[in-house]
Amino acid sequence: MTRQKILIDTDPGVDDALAILMAHAHAHADVVGLSIAAGNVGLNHTVANGLKLVEVIGADTPVFAGCPSPLVLPAEDAAFVHGLDGFGDTDYAVATRRASSEHAALAILRLSHQHAGELTLVALAPLTNLALALRLDPTLPSRIAKLVIMGGAVTGRGNTRLIPAEFNISFDPEAAHIVFSEWPQFTLVDWEATMAHGVDFSRWDALLAGADARAIFYRSISHKTLLFAQGERREKMLTADALAMAVALDPGIVTKVERRHVAIELQGTLTRGATVVDWEQRGGQMPNADIVLAVDQQRFEAMLATALGASEITPV
Ligand code: BDR
Ligand code: CA
Repeated sequence: MTRQKILIDTDPGVDDALAILMAHAHAHADVVGLSIAAGNVGLNHTVANGLKLVEVIGADTPVFAGCPSPLVLPAEDAAFVHGLDGFGDTDYAVATRRASSEHAALAILRLSHQHAGELTLVALAPLTNLALALRLDPTLPSRIAKLVIMGGAVTGRGNTRLIPAEFNISFDPEAAHIVFSEWPQFTLVDWEATMAHGVDFSRWDALLAGADARAIFYRSISHKTLLFAQGERREKMLTADALAMAVALDPGIVTKVERRHVAIELQGTLTRGATVVDWEQRGGQMPNADIVLAVDQQRFEAMLATALGASEITPV
């Protein structure tokens, strides 16, 4: 089987961390780099977290620091979910490795040439780095085999203070607008799919209970998000970026998908950052997004188990 080359644009972030573990643990994937954005917390923390995770995994994946802010307007981070440092404020020992001196947007372009036609680009953060790369070189999509984006809320059930907006899109709507309007075809894993594919708390505990170094580290950094989820009275553990990574690594897990045109609202006072889907195909624009509506939960959870070195978990 040919090995899949994965480039991850990410703002680690607790669910980003799980997605990064999944990509590194996959039997048929090679991670060629982490390009880092600001988002869940500031860039200094997201870069440090990316470096730490690579160290915990024992990989030599290069880490590229990207944009420290959205393209146009400042935005609120998600430290209230992920902790002030984005990794649950556990005071972990900082990684000894450093980030590359190459900017993330330039690294995306270089790697797209180096692995032309082979890269799966998995976007788990606000789309700032990707939009900048696209502005620098609009031919970028022609060299990327597949783009999977975690973002949006396709019927308006978002997770930010602006009710219909999802965090990654809402943090940098202009960047999302550039990517959604200029990338011909991508796969979208949104917040609503995330809500439909939560993990039961008992199974979550079992997944994280092992003695593998990855499980021990992840148990520690995810404790605050677990408390947050329970405080929100959520029925399950939601892990958006892990779901998007599962779809990127194994598209065969998708059981329901709809191809539609999706645009980004930039102006609305109640709706800035919303993903507007032409469900009835009335606008006449070419569909740009394969919207994932459902996946095989058991296969998704099996991928989580592999990423955390967990042996057996109770089947769904
Ligand atoms: C997305 O926002 C971030 O908080 C998560 O890391 C994920 O990428 C979910 O809305
Ligand atoms: Ca993220």
